[in-house]
Amino acid sequence: MRVVVGITGGIAAYKAPLLVRLLRKAGHEVRCVATEHALQFVTPLTLETVSGNRVYADLFAPTNEHTTEHISLKDWGDVMVVAPATANIIGKMASGIGDDALSTLLLSFSGKPLYLAPAMNTQMWENPAVQRNMACLRSWGVHIVEPAVGELACGTSGAGRMAEPEEIFNTIAEINQAETGKGAKKGVKVLVTAGPTYERIDAVRFIGNYSSGKMGFALAEALARHGAEVELVTGPTALKSNHHNIHRTDVESACEMYDAATSLFPHCQAAILSAAVADYRPINRADHKLKKQGEEGMTLTLVQNPDILATLGGMKQEGQLLIGFALETDNEMENARHKLEKKNLDYIVLNSLRDAGAGFGVDTNRVTIIGRDGSTHTTPLLSKAEVAEEIINHCL
Ligand code: CTP
Repeated sequence: MRVVVGITGGIAAYKAPLLVRLLRKAGHEVRCVATEHALQFVTPLTLETVSGNRVYADLFAPTNEHTTEHISLKDWGDVMVVAPATANIIGKMASGIGDDALSTLLLSFSGKPLYLAPAMNTQMWENPAVQRNMACLRSWGVHIVEPAVGELACGTSGAGRMAEPEEIFNTIAEINQAETGKGAKKGVKVLVTAGPTYERIDAVRFIGNYSSGKMGFALAEALARHGAEVELVTGPTALKSNHHNIHRTDVESACEMYDAATSLFPHCQAAILSAAVADYRPINRADHKLKKQGEEGMTLTLVQNPDILATLGGMKQEGQLLIGFALETDNEMENARHKLEKKNLDYIVLNSLRDAGAGFGVDTNRVTIIGRDGSTHTTPLLSKAEVAEEIINHCL
């Protein structure tokens, strides 16, 4: 999508670059239009750096290619969002006033989705004139990302705080997908596993791996934006996800992930297992901290963990879809196809550690999706959010 982000002069403007970043990370193009007052709170350099484009602020700037340049954004943008939206811009929109680049563009931006994230002090938000203007904009079909109740910059607490950038981003993506007919996953329940597992050695040590959980969280978020109900079972990770369609279960070890996944799978229509599950765990787990064993070293005896994906493959009923991942370094296609057969999968997503920019910890990935019928679909190097979209659109 091409997204025009309008920024007006409130303290919440400092969060606008975070919204721009989320949009860019999800693969959208962004152009920013700021009011003069907005640029008191956030610099053009910041907005230009995160958006990758120049900022439009001045109707008559000498750098403009022509005087109606800002208006041309109405044709360029698929979607427009104003975050933060002050009482002033809300009033101008409701009254049809165009006296700067942003308000003029808003007057001409019609027939396409428009989102507002209001932000102001509680008394201003509750003012009857502001509420009347809001009612007017709602009746015209403007999508409102409602302000939250919380601590405000003026030191008081109440309604008027701008919704968090993640919530604004999710609302835009969700409504837009529903409007463009991509909300087809509505109500579908999908199990997603993510992250590493930690296998305890003693009270302070574990065996783990470098998985960050980013691919699994990107899948959960993309599914939720498509309207699916997501059961996210995740190993230890610092990642957060606050989409209301995601129900999260935190686990630590492979056995805990096995218990959670096997009890949730019968209630789901699909499962995507992207977790990097430890294949082995220490046979004994000390409740205390083990002492140094001396120069001879120490031996840890490991036992095999259950294979969650293969177990779900055995449980799979008609109408359920099962997607696994394969991380391979050698004979990639052959090994991935073998895993697909052995674990009774519908699709396997092959990650190659040989590709620069793909694999653990990084924000990008390049995958080959292999189908049960032998079909293959290889993506270019994309952000993990874009790869998640590719997987969902290709397999579900
Ligand atoms: N997987 C799982 N439970 C395990 C091990 C792996 O559910 N105990 C899942 C992973 O989430 C992934 C897929 O199986 O979707 C493949 O994981 P991978 O580590 O590539 O393969 P393994 O089956 O462990 O085989 P190997 O390590 O021998 O390559």
